[in-house]
Amino acid sequence: MTALLELRAVSKTYGAGPAAVCALDTVTLSVAAGEMVAVMGPSGSGKSTLLTIAGSLEEATTGEVIIEGTPLSGLSRNDRARLRRRHIGYVFQDFNLLAGLTAVENITMPLELDGMKAKHARRIGLDALTELGLADRADTFPDELSGGMRQRVAIARALVGNRRLLLADEPTGALDSHTGESVMRLIRTACRAGAAAVVVTHDAQLASWADRVVFVRDGAIIDSTEPLPGPESLLASGGEAGR
Ligand SMILES: Nc1ncnc2c1ncn2[C@@H]1O[C@H](COP(=O)(O)OP(=O)(O)OP(=O)(O)O)[C@@H](O)[C@H]1O
Ligand SMILES: [Mg+2]
Repeated sequence: MTALLELRAVSKTYGAGPAAVCALDTVTLSVAAGEMVAVMGPSGSGKSTLLTIAGSLEEATTGEVIIEGTPLSGLSRNDRARLRRRHIGYVFQDFNLLAGLTAVENITMPLELDGMKAKHARRIGLDALTELGLADRADTFPDELSGGMRQRVAIARALVGNRRLLLADEPTGALDSHTGESVMRLIRTACRAGAAAVVVTHDAQLASWADRVVFVRDGAIIDSTEPLPGPESLLASGGEAGR
Protein backbone atom coordinates (compact mmCIF):
# COMPACT_ATOMS: atom_id res chain seq x y z
CA MET A 1 0.00 0.00 0.00
CA THR A 2 1.23 3.49 -0.82
CA ALA A 3 1.57 5.76 2.18
CA LEU A 4 0.09 9.13 1.36
CA LEU A 5 1.31 10.57 4.61
CA GLU A 6 4.27 9.44 6.63
CA LEU A 7 5.58 10.91 9.85
CA ARG A 8 8.98 9.51 10.78
CA ALA A 9 10.07 10.09 14.35
CA VAL A 10 8.56 13.57 14.37
CA SER A 11 9.08 15.74 17.44
CA LYS A 12 7.96 19.31 18.03
CA THR A 13 9.16 21.59 20.77
CA TYR A 14 7.63 25.02 21.20
CA GLY A 15 9.83 27.67 22.81
CA ALA A 16 13.27 27.15 24.30
CA GLY A 17 15.06 26.77 27.61
CA PRO A 18 13.01 26.26 30.77
CA ALA A 19 9.83 27.43 28.98
CA ALA A 20 10.14 24.77 26.26
CA VAL A 21 7.07 22.59 25.68
CA CYS A 22 7.50 19.25 24.00
CA ALA A 23 4.20 19.01 22.09
CA LEU A 24 5.12 15.94 20.04
CA ASP A 25 7.60 13.27 21.02
CA THR A 26 9.00 10.94 18.33
CA VAL A 27 5.74 10.25 16.55
CA THR A 28 5.77 7.74 13.71
CA LEU A 29 2.60 7.31 11.69
CA SER A 30 1.79 6.15 8.20
CA VAL A 31 -1.56 6.68 6.48
CA ALA A 32 -2.31 4.92 3.21
CA ALA A 33 -4.39 6.13 0.29
CA GLY A 34 -8.01 5.22 0.98
CA GLU A 35 -7.44 5.04 4.73
CA MET A 36 -9.22 7.07 7.39
CA VAL A 37 -7.44 7.43 10.72
CA ALA A 38 -9.01 8.97 13.81
CA VAL A 39 -6.83 10.63 16.45
CA MET A 40 -8.05 10.76 20.04
CA GLY A 41 -6.43 12.04 23.22
CA PRO A 42 -6.88 14.47 26.10
CA SER A 43 -6.70 18.24 25.71
CA GLY A 44 -3.12 19.41 25.24
CA SER A 45 -1.88 15.96 24.19
CA GLY A 46 -0.60 17.21 20.83
CA LYS A 47 -3.40 16.30 18.40
CA SER A 48 -3.58 19.71 16.69
CA THR A 49 0.22 19.89 16.61
CA LEU A 50 0.33 16.52 14.87
CA LEU A 51 -2.12 17.78 12.26
CA THR A 52 -0.45 21.13 11.62
CA ILE A 53 2.89 19.40 11.12
CA ALA A 54 1.38 16.72 8.87
CA GLY A 55 -0.24 19.54 6.90
CA SER A 56 3.03 21.44 6.61
CA LEU A 57 1.57 24.45 8.40
CA GLU A 58 4.33 24.12 11.00
CA GLU A 59 7.74 22.55 10.79
CA ALA A 60 8.82 19.58 12.87
CA THR A 61 11.72 20.25 15.25
CA THR A 62 13.20 16.86 14.37
CA GLY A 63 12.05 13.97 12.21
CA GLU A 64 10.67 13.87 8.70
CA VAL A 65 7.25 14.39 7.12
CA ILE A 66 6.72 12.69 3.75
CA ILE A 67 3.67 13.48 1.63
CA GLU A 68 2.98 11.36 -1.44
CA GLY A 69 6.61 10.24 -1.37
CA THR A 70 8.03 13.77 -1.13
CA PRO A 71 9.99 14.65 2.03
CA LEU A 72 8.93 18.17 3.06
CA SER A 73 12.44 19.01 4.27
CA GLY A 74 13.72 18.91 0.69
CA LEU A 75 11.26 21.55 -0.55
CA SER A 76 11.59 25.31 -0.76
CA ARG A 77 8.97 27.43 1.02
CA ASN A 78 7.21 28.08 -2.29
CA ASP A 79 7.15 24.41 -3.24
CA ARG A 80 5.79 23.54 0.18
CA ALA A 81 3.03 26.12 -0.21
CA ARG A 82 2.15 24.70 -3.62
CA LEU A 83 2.07 21.15 -2.30
CA ARG A 84 -0.17 22.33 0.53
CA ARG A 85 -2.63 24.01 -1.84
CA ARG A 86 -2.78 21.15 -4.33
CA HIS A 87 -2.61 18.07 -2.15
CA ILE A 88 -3.79 18.92 1.34
CA GLY A 89 -7.28 19.79 2.49
CA TYR A 90 -7.40 21.19 6.00
CA VAL A 91 -10.45 21.60 8.21
CA PHE A 92 -9.55 23.76 11.17
CA GLN A 93 -10.85 23.40 14.72
CA ASP A 94 -12.72 26.72 14.34
CA PHE A 95 -13.71 26.32 10.63
CA ASN A 96 -11.68 29.40 9.61
CA LEU A 97 -13.98 30.62 6.84
CA LEU A 98 -13.23 34.10 5.56
CA ALA A 99 -16.07 36.38 6.67
CA GLY A 100 -15.83 38.68 3.66
CA LEU A 101 -16.27 35.87 1.12
CA THR A 102 -19.46 33.98 0.30
CA ALA A 103 -19.75 30.22 0.82
CA VAL A 104 -18.79 29.42 -2.76
CA GLU A 105 -15.97 32.00 -2.78
CA ASN A 106 -14.51 30.44 0.36
CA ILE A 107 -14.40 27.13 -1.48
CA THR A 108 -13.01 28.42 -4.77
CA MET A 109 -10.35 30.75 -3.38
CA PRO A 110 -7.61 28.09 -3.09
CA LEU A 111 -8.41 26.88 -6.62
CA GLU A 112 -8.16 30.39 -8.02
CA LEU A 113 -4.95 31.00 -6.07
CA ASP A 114 -3.64 28.00 -7.89
CA GLY A 115 -4.42 29.57 -11.26
CA MET A 116 -7.82 28.13 -12.08
CA LYS A 117 -10.19 30.39 -14.04
CA ALA A 118 -12.91 31.90 -11.83
CA LYS A 119 -15.77 30.45 -13.89
CA HIS A 120 -14.39 26.93 -13.78
CA ALA A 121 -13.65 27.21 -10.06
CA ARG A 122 -17.19 28.43 -9.39
CA ARG A 123 -18.66 25.42 -11.15
CA ILE A 124 -16.54 23.10 -9.00
CA GLY A 125 -17.52 25.04 -5.87
CA LEU A 126 -21.21 24.85 -6.73
CA ASP A 127 -20.94 21.10 -7.35
CA ALA A 128 -19.33 20.62 -3.96
CA LEU A 129 -22.04 22.66 -2.24
CA THR A 130 -24.76 20.74 -4.07
CA GLU A 131 -23.26 17.46 -2.91
CA LEU A 132 -23.43 18.77 0.65
CA GLY A 133 -27.03 19.95 0.31
CA LEU A 134 -26.07 23.64 0.33
CA ALA A 135 -26.66 24.59 -3.32
CA ASP A 136 -29.07 27.38 -2.35
CA ARG A 137 -26.53 28.92 0.06
CA ALA A 138 -23.69 29.43 -2.40
CA ASP A 139 -23.88 33.22 -2.31
CA THR A 140 -24.51 33.47 1.42
CA PHE A 141 -21.88 34.88 3.79
CA PRO A 142 -20.60 32.73 6.68
CA ASP A 143 -22.30 34.80 9.39
CA GLU A 144 -25.67 34.04 7.78
CA LEU A 145 -25.09 30.29 7.96
CA SER A 146 -25.70 27.96 10.89
CA GLY A 147 -22.75 26.22 12.57
CA GLY A 148 -23.51 23.00 10.72
CA MET A 149 -23.67 24.79 7.38
CA ARG A 150 -20.40 26.61 8.01
CA GLN A 151 -18.81 23.31 8.84
CA ARG A 152 -20.03 21.78 5.60
CA VAL A 153 -18.58 24.73 3.66
CA ALA A 154 -15.24 24.18 5.41
CA ILE A 155 -15.35 20.49 4.46
CA ALA A 156 -16.23 21.33 0.86
CA ARG A 157 -13.29 23.73 0.73
CA ALA A 158 -10.98 20.99 1.99
CA LEU A 159 -12.23 18.45 -0.52
CA VAL A 160 -12.35 20.36 -3.81
CA GLY A 161 -9.56 20.14 -6.34
CA ASN A 162 -8.99 16.41 -5.83
CA ARG A 163 -6.86 16.92 -2.78
CA ARG A 164 -5.60 13.57 -1.66
CA LEU A 165 -4.74 14.25 1.96
CA LEU A 166 -7.50 15.43 4.23
CA LEU A 167 -6.65 16.68 7.72
CA ALA A 168 -9.53 17.62 9.99
CA ASP A 169 -9.24 18.98 13.51
CA GLU A 170 -12.44 18.28 15.46
CA PRO A 171 -14.52 18.83 12.31
CA THR A 172 -17.64 17.85 14.21
CA GLY A 173 -16.89 19.88 17.32
CA ALA A 174 -19.81 22.30 17.29
CA LEU A 175 -22.26 20.01 15.51
CA ASP A 176 -25.23 17.97 16.67
CA SER A 177 -24.70 14.23 16.41
CA HIS A 178 -26.69 13.86 13.20
CA THR A 179 -24.64 16.52 11.37
CA GLY A 180 -21.49 15.07 12.93
CA GLU A 181 -22.28 11.69 11.40
CA SER A 182 -22.84 13.25 7.97
CA VAL A 183 -19.47 15.03 8.16
CA MET A 184 -17.78 11.70 8.92
CA ARG A 185 -19.70 10.08 6.07
CA LEU A 186 -18.36 12.75 3.69
CA ILE A 187 -14.80 12.16 4.79
CA ARG A 188 -15.37 8.41 4.41
CA THR A 189 -16.60 9.02 0.85
CA ALA A 190 -13.45 11.01 0.04
CA CYS A 191 -11.36 8.08 1.33
CA ARG A 192 -13.30 5.62 -0.76
CA ALA A 193 -12.35 7.78 -3.74
CA GLY A 194 -8.66 7.41 -2.82
CA ALA A 195 -7.94 10.16 -0.31
CA ALA A 196 -6.19 9.58 3.00
CA ALA A 197 -7.72 11.28 6.04
CA VAL A 198 -6.59 12.05 9.57
CA VAL A 199 -9.44 13.24 11.77
CA VAL A 200 -9.10 14.46 15.34
CA THR A 201 -12.18 13.75 17.42
CA HIS A 202 -13.05 13.29 21.07
CA ASP A 203 -16.18 11.33 20.17
CA ALA A 204 -15.67 7.55 20.14
CA GLN A 205 -18.88 7.05 18.20
CA LEU A 206 -17.60 9.28 15.40
CA ALA A 207 -14.13 7.73 15.61
CA SER A 208 -15.76 4.42 14.76
CA TRP A 209 -16.08 5.66 11.17
CA ALA A 210 -12.30 5.36 10.87
CA ASP A 211 -10.31 2.32 9.80
CA ARG A 212 -7.97 2.87 12.70
CA VAL A 213 -7.92 4.93 15.88
CA VAL A 214 -4.65 6.35 17.17
CA PHE A 215 -4.46 7.44 20.81
CA VAL A 216 -2.16 10.30 21.76
CA ARG A 217 -1.00 11.26 25.24
CA ASP A 218 1.71 13.73 26.24
CA GLY A 219 2.77 14.11 22.61
CA ALA A 220 3.26 10.41 21.95
CA ILE A 221 1.16 7.72 20.28
CA ILE A 222 0.39 5.35 23.12
CA ASP A 223 -1.94 2.98 21.33
CA SER A 224 -3.39 2.26 17.95
CA THR A 225 -6.34 0.05 17.43
CA GLU A 226 -9.17 -1.08 15.26
CA PRO A 227 -12.29 0.87 16.20
CA LEU A 228 -15.54 -0.74 17.29
CA PRO A 229 -17.73 -1.75 14.37
CA GLY A 230 -18.99 1.53 12.93
CA PRO A 231 -22.15 2.41 11.03
CA GLU A 232 -20.51 1.30 7.78
CA SER A 233 -19.36 -2.09 8.98
CA LEU A 234 -22.70 -2.68 10.70
CA LEU A 235 -24.40 -1.99 7.39
CA ALA A 236 -21.96 -4.31 5.67
CA SER A 237 -22.50 -7.12 8.16
CA GLY A 238 -26.27 -6.58 7.96
CA GLY A 239 -25.95 -7.20 4.24
CA GLU A 240 -24.02 -10.41 4.87
CA ALA A 241 -26.62 -11.63 7.37
CA GLY A 242 -29.36 -11.01 4.85
CA ARG A 243 -27.90 -13.52 2.39
N1 LIG B 1 2.13 27.79 19.36
C1 LIG B 1 2.38 27.21 20.54
N2 LIG B 1 3.29 27.73 21.40
C2 LIG B 1 3.57 27.13 22.57
N3 LIG B 1 2.98 25.99 22.99
C3 LIG B 1 2.08 25.43 22.19
C4 LIG B 1 1.72 26.00 20.92
N4 LIG B 1 0.79 25.21 20.33
C5 LIG B 1 0.57 24.19 21.21
N5 LIG B 1 1.33 24.31 22.32
C6 LIG B 1 1.39 23.37 23.47
O1 LIG B 1 1.64 22.08 22.93
C7 LIG B 1 0.87 21.11 23.62
C8 LIG B 1 -0.01 20.37 22.62
O2 LIG B 1 -1.00 21.27 22.14
P1 LIG B 1 -2.09 20.88 21.05
O3 LIG B 1 -2.82 22.11 20.71
O4 LIG B 1 -1.43 20.14 19.95
O5 LIG B 1 -3.02 19.86 21.87
P2 LIG B 1 -4.45 19.23 21.48
O6 LIG B 1 -4.33 17.78 21.75
O7 LIG B 1 -4.82 19.65 20.12
O8 LIG B 1 -5.42 19.90 22.55
P3 LIG B 1 -7.01 20.23 22.42
O9 LIG B 1 -7.71 18.91 22.57
O10 LIG B 1 -7.28 21.14 23.57
O11 LIG B 1 -7.25 20.88 21.10
C9 LIG B 1 0.11 21.85 24.69
O12 LIG B 1 0.86 21.76 25.88
C10 LIG B 1 0.06 23.26 24.17
O13 LIG B 1 -0.02 24.18 25.24
MG1 LIG C 1 -6.40 20.79 19.35
